[in-house]
Amino acid sequence: MSSFKQIVELIADDLTAVEAKLTEQTASEYSFVDMAVQHVVEGGGKRLRPILVVLSAKVCGYEGSDAHTLAAVVELIHVASLVHDDVLDEAAIRRGRETLQTKWGNKVAVLVGDYLHARVLSMLVARRADDPAMAILADTTQAMCEGEVIHAYKSGDFDISENEYLKIISFKTGKLIAASCTLGAHLGTTDKQQLEALTTYGQQIGTAFQIVDDVLDFTEDADKLGKNAFGDLREGKLTFPIIYARSVCNDAEKQTLEKVLNPNTDEAEAIAFVESLFQQYGVETHCLKAAQGYANRAKAALAVLPATPARRALEQLADYVVARES
Ligand code: FPP
Ligand code: MG
Repeated sequence: MSSFKQIVELIADDLTAVEAKLTEQTASEYSFVDMAVQHVVEGGGKRLRPILVVLSAKVCGYEGSDAHTLAAVVELIHVASLVHDDVLDEAAIRRGRETLQTKWGNKVAVLVGDYLHARVLSMLVARRADDPAMAILADTTQAMCEGEVIHAYKSGDFDISENEYLKIISFKTGKLIAASCTLGAHLGTTDKQQLEALTTYGQQIGTAFQIVDDVLDFTEDADKLGKNAFGDLREGKLTFPIIYARSVCNDAEKQTLEKVLNPNTDEAEAIAFVESLFQQYGVETHCLKAAQGYANRAKAALAVLPATPARRALEQLADYVVARES
């Protein structure tokens, strides 16, 4: 059995409770709203963020049901962000299903994202208004939006540096993954060292996750990904592998790279050129090695936590984030 399946099995009851919360908390009495909302809420996915909330809570000694509410909250923020991201990226498929804007148009997609946010706020208020979760998730959502705005603003900038890109992904992806860990930890402990350890763990796997996401866009097929392959390339999006390839290739290749990143270039030609660059400069290996570096730092951060099955699962999860194929 894969390590990811083992982790899911270890917390199967918790994940069932999270699914129930997700369904129950997003139901709408209006049937079309309900259909559109459930289309994305039920739409599969790895449930990485809920898993992180539950494991972070457990490793800090908490076993109660508030972890399920917070796990549902972070997943809903994630789903809302993907719904909006697919509008921005004009993506057709997500989690193996048609995206909302393909099925019902941009208006429905934007509004369903907003609806999910409203539900998140309502779920948080129904807990305790003075809970740190409120502030953490407000900051997180703001940073995600900032990350996406900067990425969109920089989309035509061929000179974006690796450091600038790492900052963007730490915002758009890392913040919510880190918040998932911090929120889980808060349920079980007030110990600053433990809280910081789990936040650092989340930030590090968040960066690893997005670097691997960027690589998979070039290396995996659409069926496995549950979304279109070469999506970033066709949008002319500069991601970690391209930024690296650009930093090591020669001037002529750099010019061609800039040309093939133009969405008007013939798709087959663009893919063939980028694949040849990947081969020549070992781009995939370089990126996965960088991602593994982040995963290793994540695992190292866990050293201050008790050596329990939950900590072991978090360690395995860090490696899974790099080894995954979808
Ligand atoms: C996927 O990136 C998108 C994100 C990680 C963040 C999206 C954030 C927003 C749209 C800001 C708004 C936030 C909220 C909470 C509504 P990707 O395009 O690299 O990955 P993909 O290949 O899975 O689409
Ligand atoms: Mg996208």
